[in-house]
Amino acid sequence: MAACPSLHPLSTSTWLACGFLSLALLHLLCCSPPATQDAVFTPLLQYVNATYSYLSSGGGQSCEYSEGRWVWAPGHVRRYNATACGVKEGQDCLRNGRPDTGYLDWRWQPAAGCRLPAFDAAAFLAAVRGKHVSFVGDSMARNQAESLACLLSAAFPRRVVHRDPEAHRHQFMRWAFPTHDVTVSVYWAPYLARATGKSENYSMPYNLVYLDAPADRWAADADTMDVVVLSAGHWLLNSAVYHNGSEVVGVHAHPELNHTDIGYASPFRQAYRMSLERLSSGRPRTVVLTTFSPTHFENNRMDDPTACAKKAPYKEGEKELNRLEKELRSIVIEEAEAAAQRNGTSGAVRFEVLDVTKLAAMRPDGHPGPYMNRDPFAHGVLERMQTDCLHFCLPGPVDTFNEILQQILTKRR
Ligand SMILES: *[C@@H]1O[C@H](CO)[C@@H](O)[C@H](O)[C@H]1NC(C)=O
Ligand SMILES: *[C@@H]1O[C@H](CO)[C@@H](O)[C@H](O)[C@H]1NC(C)=O
Ligand SMILES: *[C@@H]1O[C@H](CO)[C@@H](O)[C@H](O)[C@H]1NC(C)=O
Ligand SMILES: *[C@@H]1O[C@H](CO)[C@@H](O)[C@H](O)[C@H]1NC(C)=O
Ligand SMILES: *[C@@H]1O[C@H](CO)[C@@H](O)[C@H](O)[C@H]1NC(C)=O
Ligand SMILES: *[C@@H]1O[C@H](CO)[C@@H](O)[C@H](O)[C@H]1NC(C)=O
Repeated sequence: MAACPSLHPLSTSTWLACGFLSLALLHLLCCSPPATQDAVFTPLLQYVNATYSYLSSGGGQSCEYSEGRWVWAPGHVRRYNATACGVKEGQDCLRNGRPDTGYLDWRWQPAAGCRLPAFDAAAFLAAVRGKHVSFVGDSMARNQAESLACLLSAAFPRRVVHRDPEAHRHQFMRWAFPTHDVTVSVYWAPYLARATGKSENYSMPYNLVYLDAPADRWAADADTMDVVVLSAGHWLLNSAVYHNGSEVVGVHAHPELNHTDIGYASPFRQAYRMSLERLSSGRPRTVVLTTFSPTHFENNRMDDPTACAKKAPYKEGEKELNRLEKELRSIVIEEAEAAAQRNGTSGAVRFEVLDVTKLAAMRPDGHPGPYMNRDPFAHGVLERMQTDCLHFCLPGPVDTFNEILQQILTKRR
């Protein structure tokens, strides 16, 4: 999917050729199998090898994390039991029978030479004591939120405050960590902006997106949010009709309608700008923008069980970002900078970029692949099988996003 539109982002023929891919992606994005787990309190786990810890090397030094390489570090991300934590089953790779576990044995080594400390639940909770930490965006926002909830739950008691009745969609979830009076929430808003249609109901043909307004649910809670992590991008590639109020400003990948195709970049930028403006008022807070996380459907097939079958990270230089990935990453960085400028350096709202594009691009091995379903090969290997090369396994490389988030939230101002 990502490779497809990136070749000719605006060409209708490419979109038609990719139609099958887009449909399959939508299935991944919204309708994976229902979760039945309902974990309440998660026990302390024995996963972490206490001798393997870099906690002492952290503590607020600033470091550039966006460039680097993955280095072998046995057990580094074996920090929680995702089944006990109740994550979305499609990302619970161990439960689903994934036999190779090497993807749990890597840590991110920043090129700058500094060490990225391992996640420290106590330090994280202390940094956000009494606060509401929210994730707003698409299923990658949820992936990161579930990772954080599990990393914290592995060390401290937590309560599931809310899960949508439609459990399989996990559109809104909230966890409480009473020892530190911390709340963690995730809000489904794949366009950040208000949207109806496909993103709410998979059987609808396209999305109607209102770029002038934030999505209702997070907008209603915005004034309670102290830390907001925004993470969106993958839905922008689907067909949509974009509005400014009641006026149609353009469409994307929707040749049947007689409107200009405005592509994905401009609505993406507008959605971020509008969201940052909304978050610039109300209360002092930290707004963190997670950059685009590339997919690894290496042969452009979303139903091929070998689409992301690599067993190790890419090495430096082995995988370059494509045009789409670079563009979506740049837009997020530019909008974060613009928002910071608008509010000045003394502003009570802090804008930070959590730049994961490179480190995520280097992890083709960290996705569920066919292990988005339980025991996928129980009846043999089929030529066509549901495959997820977009989200990350939990535990998995997405835990590193939260290691960096911790550094952002604890660094000196
Ligand atoms: C912890 O890790 C160290 C270094 O990798 C290793 O020597 C030690 O045996 C491990 N301990 C346990 C209990 O796994
Ligand atoms: C994770 O927890 C579940 C119960 O919730 C248990 O059945 C499973 O064996 C555990 N997995 C590991 C690897 O400890
Ligand atoms: C979803 O859309 C379909 C077709 O437009 C409609 O029949 C169905 O009732 C909708 N479902 C929900 C839950 O709104
Ligand atoms: C939306 O419409 C308003 C008022 O008509 C206008 O001021 C604004 O610039 C428009 N926004 C965009 C992104 O077109
Ligand atoms: C589509 O738009 C063009 C230019 O605005 C117009 O000339 C044409 O008649 C429209 N076609 C339909 C079917 O509305
Ligand atoms: C940030 O800027 C917006 C307008 O651009 C303003 O409404 C808001 O009050 C500012 N917020 C802070 C905290 O300075």
